[in-house]
Amino acid sequence: MAGHTIESIAATLLAPGKGLLAADESFPTIEKRFKALDIPSTEENRLAYREMLFTTPGLKEFISGVILFDETIRQRTKDGIPLPEMLTKEGIIPGIKVDKGTISLPNFAGEMITQGLDGLRERFAEYRELGARFTKWRAVIAIGEGLPTATCIEANARALALFAALSQEADLVPIVEPEVLMDGAHTLARCEEVTRVTLKCVFDALFDQRVVLEQMLLKTGMVLSGKDCPPQAEISEVAEATIRCLGRAVPAAVPGIVFLSGGQSDLAATERLNAICAVDDVPWTLSFSYGRALQDAALKTWRGSAANAAPAQAGLYHRAKCNGLAVRGKYSSDLESVVR
Ligand code: 13P
Repeated sequence: MAGHTIESIAATLLAPGKGLLAADESFPTIEKRFKALDIPSTEENRLAYREMLFTTPGLKEFISGVILFDETIRQRTKDGIPLPEMLTKEGIIPGIKVDKGTISLPNFAGEMITQGLDGLRERFAEYRELGARFTKWRAVIAIGEGLPTATCIEANARALALFAALSQEADLVPIVEPEVLMDGAHTLARCEEVTRVTLKCVFDALFDQRVVLEQMLLKTGMVLSGKDCPPQAEISEVAEATIRCLGRAVPAAVPGIVFLSGGQSDLAATERLNAICAVDDVPWTLSFSYGRALQDAALKTWRGSAANAAPAQAGLYHRAKCNGLAVRGKYSSDLESVVR
């Protein structure tokens, strides 16, 4: 991928009918996912799992890029090929999560700040050498009584902007991810308000930091009712609120917005994506950057055993295909009966 400009990498990530596979779970997160299925989180198992995912036949039909974790970008396949090189040869762009997770924000109970700015310029240079062409930083915003605070949103927005500027300096497309959590009993309207205020603050910070909007992607959650809110908004309401919110807060110069799944079921994440992407006349390309909503079925089938690799890969391929169709607004739940 030498010689590709940062804009062309962004455009390739946003290829029609394709999206991103987020496989960048940190050590604690992958351990949690594995533990639920009694799979020990060893280096060998993490490699076997991710190699299984990345070698899914036909994956590149629907997946343009994969977000890797620091450990993974340094690992090699059974045949001794570095994983990023294997992906690049397959026609899938490797990317890297560069934040170092969240810590509690001092003096602000229930809120978090993402860390990882120290030494980031040097790490970007190394990740580029290792084959990464895009990067991701995730900030977390919680909704609750009196939350989020402006202090939390602003601190996270500043960090996101510094990350994005450093990433562009290294010729790596930054994926700026302020995630508004689904946890809580808040309404759809409250989620819309918090997402809009958060995005506005993030874009103000990006502007101040002179980040080139044409050379980045936004990763955000859909506007959803809180997980514990009765009633849950209908799919059409989610699509309407999400598009309205993004339209008010995301500049048209941003080439693409990719959604995280954030704990939605895999089917709900696909159905809602389909409804959102069916809306015409938006200035950005819309797509997905799913972790759990792409991997859940595959992980449950694999369960740590190489003997289950083929059906697990079929599960990932199926979800990637469904989401690839959803990006075109062409998904139908009839497709699910093929596998389930
Ligand atoms: P989920 O789709 O599982 O929310 O993960 C996406 C991601 O990369 C979160 O940072």
